[in-house]
Amino acid sequence: MLRQINSFILSILLIGLAIVRAEENVSLTQKLTVTLPSGDRMPVIGYGTSRIRGDDKVKEALDHALSVGYRLFDTAEAYENEESIGKALKELLPKHNLTRKDIFITSKVASRPESSGANSYISLSRSLRRLDTSYVDLYLIHSPEYWSSVAANSNVNFSEIRDLTWKQLVKGQKDGLARNIGVSNYNIDHLKELLSNDYGVKPAVNQVHWNPEYHQDDLLEFCKSNNIALQAYFSLGGDKHKIALLDNQEVKKVADKLGKTPGQVVLRWAVQQNVLIIPKSLSRIHMIQNLDLNFQISEDDMKILSNLQKS
Ligand SMILES: NC(=O)c1ccc[n+]([C@@H]2O[C@H](COP(=O)([O-])OP(=O)(O)OC[C@H]3O[C@@H](n4cnc5c(N)ncnc54)[C@H](OP(=O)(O)O)[C@@H]3O)[C@@H](O)[C@H]2O)c1
Ligand SMILES: *[C@@H]1O[C@H](CO)[C@@H](O)[C@H](O)[C@H]1NC(C)=O
Ligand SMILES: *[C@@H]1O[C@H](CO)[C@@H](O)[C@H](O)[C@H]1NC(C)=O
Ligand SMILES: *[C@@H]1O[C@H](CO)[C@@H](O)[C@H](O)[C@H]1NC(C)=O
Repeated sequence: MLRQINSFILSILLIGLAIVRAEENVSLTQKLTVTLPSGDRMPVIGYGTSRIRGDDKVKEALDHALSVGYRLFDTAEAYENEESIGKALKELLPKHNLTRKDIFITSKVASRPESSGANSYISLSRSLRRLDTSYVDLYLIHSPEYWSSVAANSNVNFSEIRDLTWKQLVKGQKDGLARNIGVSNYNIDHLKELLSNDYGVKPAVNQVHWNPEYHQDDLLEFCKSNNIALQAYFSLGGDKHKIALLDNQEVKKVADKLGKTPGQVVLRWAVQQNVLIIPKSLSRIHMIQNLDLNFQISEDDMKILSNLQKS
């Protein structure tokens, strides 16, 4: 009887210890940041918000995200949730004993004629109004060209549009509307073009599609050598391709070996290459797992994962 009670107490202690240790690891990766050229620190792991819409849904998601430790929120004019995020943060920051400066907000100018080019400064101001804040931490050009439906029957010089847009973003940064500015979906040629005529400000970040099945290693090298932080989207494969990626036998093998989930393995694969991530999840368990990346994938397994690249 006494032995049973003792082993019961021991297992409670061990579970408690495991939780404390897991939380220690979460807080370790949660607190990881990179320093941008402005001197601002940007969390390595952020929270993606695309397709999370409506005041109630956004508030619930952000409440969970803040409580488990997310401090970076990635949105965009095109996600149609900036206003809901603004309202939610007004209420949630005090609830979590946080202020605006404790969090990092990214937004993006939509790649369509009404928003980008000469209209970009106004778009930035509108995003601030919707987010109910006087600045965003990072403002990105969402895409180097208009989205396909618009581009189909237009005859636009996108090089000129990119140049006009960047000029407006630089003005936005000088005026304090955006603390940092950057780009998204830019390839090496787009970056070279921008760096050759940057109005005195280089892009701090390039946010691109990045996971074991889809990665441009030369782009990462180019970004590293130009001090541009590469941030991944679809790092879990996105809603459409996550099943194929997370069910992949090689990913599962590495996960089993490390005692982690497939999701954690593909996220760690990105972080271990100094790529920043913004996984999206509505599940509290996934939210916690996605911050718990304080483990090491061996060089051999990193190669196996990188070789899942589809041509
Ligand atoms: N710049 C751009 O052009 C661009 C394009 C696309 C996306 N983005 C940004 O990047 C963010 C991330 O992309 P995304 O949301 O499309 O895709 P994602 O983060 O790759 O995948 C999200 C999906 O993965 C699931 N998931 C999350 N954690 C998981 C885990 N640990 N294990 C298993 N499944 C998990 C989520 O479902 P549950 O809710 O069930 O967890 C959700 O269905 C977006 O929210 C957006 O902010 C930017
Ligand atoms: C925390 O991370 C260390 C490696 O830094 C690892 O050895 C340990 O097992 C992890 N703990 C938990 C509970 O995941
Ligand atoms: C916020 O701070 C107050 C007072 O310092 C404390 O009582 C409360 O538990 C804190 N709440 C959270 C969510 O940390
Ligand atoms: C597009 O605009 C750029 C200037 O941004 C110019 O150098 C280039 O010649 C233009 N291309 C065409 C096809 O007009």
